Amino acid sequence: PATKLLEHEVLAAKTTMRVGGPARVYAEPAGAEDLQHLLREAGARNLPVLLLGRGSNLIIPDHGVDGLVISLGHPAWQSFEPQPDGRLWVGAGLRLKNLCGLATKAGLQGFEFLEGIPGSVGGALRMNAGAMGGWMFDVVDEVRLMTLAGEIHTRKKAELHVDYRHCAELHDAIALGAWLRPAAGVDADAIRRQIEVYQKKRVESQPREPSAGCIFKNPPGGSAGRLIDESGLKGERVGDAEVSTVHANFIVNRGHATSADIIALVQKVRARVKSVRGVDLEPEVLL
Ligand code: EPU
Repeated sequence: PATKLLEHEVLAAKTTMRVGGPARVYAEPAGAEDLQHLLREAGARNLPVLLLGRGSNLIIPDHGVDGLVISLGHPAWQSFEPQPDGRLWVGAGLRLKNLCGLATKAGLQGFEFLEGIPGSVGGALRMNAGAMGGWMFDVVDEVRLMTLAGEIHTRKKAELHVDYRHCAELHDAIALGAWLRPAAGVDADAIRRQIEVYQKKRVESQPREPSAGCIFKNPPGGSAGRLIDESGLKGERVGDAEVSTVHANFIVNRGHATSADIIALVQKVRARVKSVRGVDLEPEVLL
C-alpha cells in the first residue's frame, strides 16, 4: 500500500497549542492495512511511533519528533455508523465535535458532553477524555485496537482498565474505533438544549486562545485550576506562554510562544503550587 511518507513535516499547525518542530517522518494511513504496513516500516527503521490524534493534548518539542508521527486524518477513519443492534460505530479519526453533531442529527442521545472537547475519538479513548461530568468510557461498549506489532483486537469495556484520564490497554496500542452505546430516549430538542448549556458554560469558563486544554490532572478530590489560581499564578508568563486569566489550568499561546516557553511555565506552575499549597500536580498533557 502506498501511504505517502513525508519527511520533516512541521507539526505546529497540526496541534491546538500551535508549537513544535518537524516530524522525522509523517504519514496519514488510508486504512488498517496501511497502518500495519507503517508500523512494520517503523519497526524495521527503529523509529518510535507517535499518534497525533487531533493534537490537542500534547506539546511537541521545538526540535520536533525523531520518529514516525501518524495522523488518522484520512476519511477512512471518520466513520459514524449506527448499527442494527442500536450501537454506534465511530472511527478513531472522527472529531468529537462531528460525532456530537452527527449524533444530534440522528437523534442519538448521550454524547452531548463531548461537544466542546477538541479531540478525536482515538485520542479521547486513549486518555479517557472528559468534560461536564462525563467521560468517554461512559458511552463506550467495545473498542477496536491495534497493537504496535500490528495485531487487531476487539475489547469489551469490562476487559479494559479505565480510570480518570487513563486507559491502560491503549497506552501502548492504537485505538482504531469503538462501538458506543447511545442513552435511551430520542428527543432532538433535549439534545440541542443540553449542548447549548454546555457550550455556554465552556465559553464562560475556558479561554479562546490556542491551548492544549487543561495542563494538569485534577488531584483526587481537588481542582488543579483552583490551586493554581490560589497560588497567584493567573497571568504568569514565560515569553508568549501565559497562565490563562480565564482558567488557571490552561496555558495559552499569546502569539509566538515556543515549546520551551510552555514547558518552562509548566515547571514554574508545578513548583509554585507545590511550595504554596503542598500539592504536586501531575501533567495531563503529553510533554
Ligand atoms: N477554578 C478557580 N480558578 C480557576 C479555574 C477554576 O477557582 O482559574 C475553580 C472553579 O470555580 C470551580 C473549580 O475550580 O469551582 C473547577 O473548575 P471547572 O468547573 O472549570 O472544572 P475543572 O475541574 O477545572 C474539568 C476538566 C476540564 C473540563 C471541565 C468542564 C480536568 C483536569 N479538567 O475542569 O477538562 O473541560 O472540567 O467540565 O479534569 C481537559 O481535560 O483538558 C479539560 C479542559
